[in-house]
Amino acid sequence: MRTLLSTVGFLFLLLLSHNGGLTGATDAEHSLRATDSHTHRHRRHHGHRRRENFEYSALSCRAYSASLDEFGAVGDGVTSNTAAFRDAVSQLSRFADHGGSLLFVPAGRWLTGSFNLTSHFTLFLHRDAVLLASQEESDYEVIEPLPSYGRGRDTDGGRFISLLFGSNRRENGTIDGQGEPWWGKFKRGELKYTRPYLIEIMHSNSIQISNLTFLNSPSWHIHPVYSSNIVIQGLTILAPVTVPNTDGINPDSCTNTRIEDCYIVSGDDCIAVKSGWDQYGINYGMPTKQLLIRRLTCISPDSAVIALGSEMSGGIEDVRAEDIVAINSESGIRYVIKNTPVWLCLVRLNRNKTCRIKTAVGRGGYVKDVYVRGMTMKTMKYVFWMTGSYGSHPDEHYDPKALPVIQNINYQDMVAENVTMPAQLAGITGDEFTGICISNVTITLSKKPKKVFWNCTDVSGYTSGVTPEPCQLLPEKQPGTVVPCNFPKSPLPIEEVKLQRCNTRRRHM
Ligand SMILES: *[C@@H]1O[C@H](CO)[C@@H](O)[C@H](O)[C@H]1NC(C)=O
Ligand SMILES: *[C@@H]1O[C@H](CO)[C@@H](O)[C@H](O)[C@H]1NC(C)=O
Ligand SMILES: *[C@@H]1O[C@H](CO)[C@@H](O)[C@H](O)[C@H]1NC(C)=O
Ligand SMILES: *[C@@H]1O[C@H](CO)[C@@H](O)[C@H](O)[C@H]1NC(C)=O
Ligand SMILES: *[C@@H]1O[C@H](CO)[C@@H](O)[C@H](O)[C@H]1NC(C)=O
Ligand SMILES: *[C@@H]1O[C@H](CO)[C@@H](O)[C@H](O)[C@H]1NC(C)=O
Ligand SMILES: *[C@@H]1O[C@H](CO)[C@@H](O)[C@H](O)[C@H]1NC(C)=O
Repeated sequence: MRTLLSTVGFLFLLLLSHNGGLTGATDAEHSLRATDSHTHRHRRHHGHRRRENFEYSALSCRAYSASLDEFGAVGDGVTSNTAAFRDAVSQLSRFADHGGSLLFVPAGRWLTGSFNLTSHFTLFLHRDAVLLASQEESDYEVIEPLPSYGRGRDTDGGRFISLLFGSNRRENGTIDGQGEPWWGKFKRGELKYTRPYLIEIMHSNSIQISNLTFLNSPSWHIHPVYSSNIVIQGLTILAPVTVPNTDGINPDSCTNTRIEDCYIVSGDDCIAVKSGWDQYGINYGMPTKQLLIRRLTCISPDSAVIALGSEMSGGIEDVRAEDIVAINSESGIRYVIKNTPVWLCLVRLNRNKTCRIKTAVGRGGYVKDVYVRGMTMKTMKYVFWMTGSYGSHPDEHYDPKALPVIQNINYQDMVAENVTMPAQLAGITGDEFTGICISNVTITLSKKPKKVFWNCTDVSGYTSGVTPEPCQLLPEKQPGTVVPCNFPKSPLPIEEVKLQRCNTRRRHM
């Protein structure tokens, strides 16, 4: 697999696409060492530096490195370092074709506006380094909407660029989005453009984000889009559970992604899998596929542990989730196909909640081949939740005949306690959700459960070894034995990718 990845990486190098990677310094005393003559010249220019080395593990090692303080940055939490970050990335981008580079961010509180990442580049945060996102709108350029969305999610038209835009990796430091003024402005309808994300990595291949803490994004925290071969691991993502759209990780039109060992507490879905919005997503036609999510702990009282959708018009295919712990979430895994014909109506977030009830179709796309096993849940409103009649459209040009296809959805080996309603499963009339399998699932109800435990409409499939007794649309397969659901035996290519040990002293030339 490494051969495959490096081949692909090489191709993308020619295409000037991105290739990020990250790793972990375990020794807080380490600073960085320059490894090439350009950097030495640069250092002389900027005065003296400590020269130490550290080891890290990454998808790809970097030949060159520099430290942020060489670029005049000040880690006092007050001075703006936008220019220093942009200068550092611009200088280091020269090494993209010569073994890549690493920017070390030392301990300190580094206030910054948005900056772009570059190819073959690692952003490496010391464990006591905190990136503080600027709260000024003017520190974020306004960029075009994503082609698969057609408009910003919050507002029509453009959107603020993400704090970190491009491709990268880092280690164990903290990136604090300081989202509070943004949440307020959004709720009061004061924003002209869609809020920034903390990280957006677009059109990139070979991305690694490891061992970092993300706090309080203005909106989504991590958004890889139109990208492939992605490893996201060891992240802690924290945002108040009451604030709008602070999704944890949103793989969007991405292929071959592994998300593991993450702890997420947020005001929206912990992981939301996406692939574009209505006619824009259908036209762009880029699905999210080959996604593995494992060892995730999620706390999200109002949202989902893993949401597939609602923007899924490019399709979602081959998603595997294992060893998931969910506490106090609204629903275990949910599929939301939003279908409200009210322009500008965003479910859950819109000030005007009336849009929730209106239904129509137009989302198109598909969700198929989803496999979930090993999930422990505590205090859940719903364990299973699917709906085909919910939501919003980017504008009124969606195609009402574009029916989403939902098929081959498998859940097994799950235990849920203190549940209000085991299942709310609503397909679309004339467009049934098919091939649903639920096996070996034990649900214990809360003291005050809903009267109806399973409410199923327009769905089909089977169950086996499930309590309480499921709905008639999902009959028991072979009473007396527990028949497992499918789970693919062969691993995804991204599961076989191993990190390399790297050293900042390393040279490739
Ligand atoms: C992340 O941290 C864990 C635990 O300290 C460590 O085993 C792993 O190698 C680190 N990952 C990277 C990419 O450095
Ligand atoms: C990252 O931070 C966590 C929590 O402080 C610590 O347990 C872990 O060992 C650190 N990992 C590395 C690679 O420094
Ligand atoms: C960052 O990249 C975006 C998209 O390519 C571009 O619009 C923007 O001007 C870049 N910003 C900087 C500071 O280079
Ligand atoms: C908001 O609700 C009001 C009253 O229900 C309705 O007249 C109006 O069109 C709605 N606006 C939007 C944007 O949904
Ligand atoms: C069970 O869930 C209810 C909310 O439905 C919550 O108030 C209660 O604290 C939970 N009980 C336990 C033991 O977690
Ligand atoms: C049922 O699921 C539990 C975990 O919830 C697991 O320990 C057990 O082995 C499973 N049983 C079967 C028959 O697969
Ligand atoms: C069952 O689901 C249907 C369709 O979503 C809904 O209209 C109905 O109110 C639900 N019934 C209960 C008892 O929750």
